[in-house]
Amino acid sequence: MTVPVASIASERLNSGLREMWYPVAPSWMLQNAPLGLTRLSQRIVLWRDAEGKVNAIDDRCPHRGARLSMGWNLGDRVACWYHGVEVNGEGRIEDIPALAKCVMKGRPLNRAFPAVERAGAIFVWFGEGEPTALELPEEISGGEWADILCTAHWKCNWRYAVDNVMDPMHGAYLHAQSHSMAEGDKTATMRARDTDAGFVFEKTNQSGVNFDWTEVGLTGALWLRLSIPYGKSAGPGGSFGIVGMVVPVDETSCRVFFWRCRKVSGWARNAWKFLYRARLESLHWDVLEQDRLILEGMDDRAREQEALYAHDGGIVRLRRMLEQLASAEVAAASAKTAGAREQA
Ligand code: FES
Ligand SMILES: [Fe+2]
Repeated sequence: MTVPVASIASERLNSGLREMWYPVAPSWMLQNAPLGLTRLSQRIVLWRDAEGKVNAIDDRCPHRGARLSMGWNLGDRVACWYHGVEVNGEGRIEDIPALAKCVMKGRPLNRAFPAVERAGAIFVWFGEGEPTALELPEEISGGEWADILCTAHWKCNWRYAVDNVMDPMHGAYLHAQSHSMAEGDKTATMRARDTDAGFVFEKTNQSGVNFDWTEVGLTGALWLRLSIPYGKSAGPGGSFGIVGMVVPVDETSCRVFFWRCRKVSGWARNAWKFLYRARLESLHWDVLEQDRLILEGMDDRAREQEALYAHDGGIVRLRRMLEQLASAEVAAASAKTAGAREQA
């Protein structure tokens, strides 16, 4: 029986698009020991070599399947705890210490994933094709901006976390009691506007008062950004910028990454970071907890029974964009399989 392409594409979307970079962990989480993670329903092991460069391969020993992340970091390779087999960053067996000679040495039995470290996070490429260039929004590309990364595990499908950011109107309700989203109109008309990398979804009757717009972009990674006006008491740097990304863990959980950004340099940067840690960070965690509670409380199939209205236009448009990407990925994968079959 042939499975319809639309249903394969929808499964692909649910478990995570592959042809893009994802932040998988904040840099601080990867110290000297190998780190085992599940991302896009795949187990991967990360480790740093002697220069600190990150390697990422399947977290499965080619011998009998133990998790390599339970073993040892030997720099250019990891050693399995079970019988000592060593696998390098290209996924090749480097050594089988229990045998003097073995034909398996040098075989690439593990998949290796391209990995880079940017903006205080480790990004991994899960696609089959060549990695595209990763261009991050200016707020987290250094320069005049300073950012602080916050990340959390949420027990909901990754698409609900993305939808949540694409919905500026929830700020005035879900976060109505928060320190930064109590102001402004509780009604709005909304519109979408194209950008080079995606689109903006914004209120037409209000800007610069509350969470009034969201932008989504695809520049090697899928990101969202927004800005929330801050008063003088919140220190230097003008509006507070947030860049968000979400990586699927499996079909019912994800890890969210939010970079909190302000345009500050020199002494103002230190003042802002100090103020942030001392006073604002716990307030922000309170806001994120509101998001987490509402999303984790929703049924995993909530999107099958929605009654959307005009404020959800951004979500509808974003979903369409993601569905098109999923269909393109599935079509490319099936063309590749058909090509390989012809050659065989
Ligand atoms: S399972 Fe890893 S060395 Fe045997
Ligand atoms: Fe929120």
